[in-house]
Amino acid sequence: MTMTTLGIIGAGNIGSQVARAAVGQGYDVVIANSRDPRTLDDLVAELGPRARAATAKEAARAADVAVVAVPFHAYREIPVEPLAGKIVLDTNNYYWERDGHVDALDRGEATSSGLLQEHLPSSKVAKAFNHIQSAHITTDGTPAGTPGRRALATSSDFPEAAAWVERFYDELGFDTVDTSPLAESWRVERDRPAYVARQDADELRANLARAPRTI
Ligand SMILES: NC(=O)c1ccc[n+]([C@@H]2O[C@H](COP(=O)([O-])OP(=O)(O)OC[C@H]3O[C@@H](n4cnc5c(N)ncnc54)[C@H](OP(=O)(O)O)[C@@H]3O)[C@@H](O)[C@H]2O)c1
Repeated sequence: MTMTTLGIIGAGNIGSQVARAAVGQGYDVVIANSRDPRTLDDLVAELGPRARAATAKEAARAADVAVVAVPFHAYREIPVEPLAGKIVLDTNNYYWERDGHVDALDRGEATSSGLLQEHLPSSKVAKAFNHIQSAHITTDGTPAGTPGRRALATSSDFPEAAAWVERFYDELGFDTVDTSPLAESWRVERDRPAYVARQDADELRANLARAPRTI
């Protein structure tokens, strides 16, 4: 059993699913949305004694490892100082229809995870869980070595952050394809071949290799 506390900022589709998967593996979870933590009473009751709700700042402070699962447009509201030095998993995807246009992303000159890394200059950002539909996080995992085991991508400028994601994916039942550094993370962004497709590691590698830089 792990003694790691995950601080999850964002408690919607993806944050709540990462929380379910994490408590299932023995992690402690501190989870936040944008409102009073009491609005998460039902979720915390469902998650059980390993989970509690807090403000985003408190979740960031309590985190050994953090997860950012807010809509991309809110990334600048993620607390900076309490996440310094920590591994931060970025689940976000840029949808201009929801998030508003960001020119550098539209032109293919930046990545959404790279922008979060700029916002959190002292943290170790790793892209994670962005290309799996949230419901499948708790349904698609299988033991290591299962033929056709589903694979998920990660990327980071920090090898220890990518390695942490790889261990976590494996605990949850997924293989990993590492597409570091973070500047390569566009390969798994929205509408690329790897996006939300069920694929094993070989298929994911092939999909990453044939991804177009701009859509
Ligand atoms: N849905 C999926 O299957 C999926 C899969 C992979 C990646 N993603 C990506 O993951 C991100 C989250 O998606 P989602 O579907 O989970 O969104 P969602 O269901 O709308 O949930 C967003 C959560 O973020 C919280 N939030 C918003 N602004 C915040 C702030 N400033 N501080 C703290 N919490 C804040 C919201 O709290 P309130 O309720 O208080 O507003 C809510 O709990 C998006 O970038 C999405 O593209 C989604």
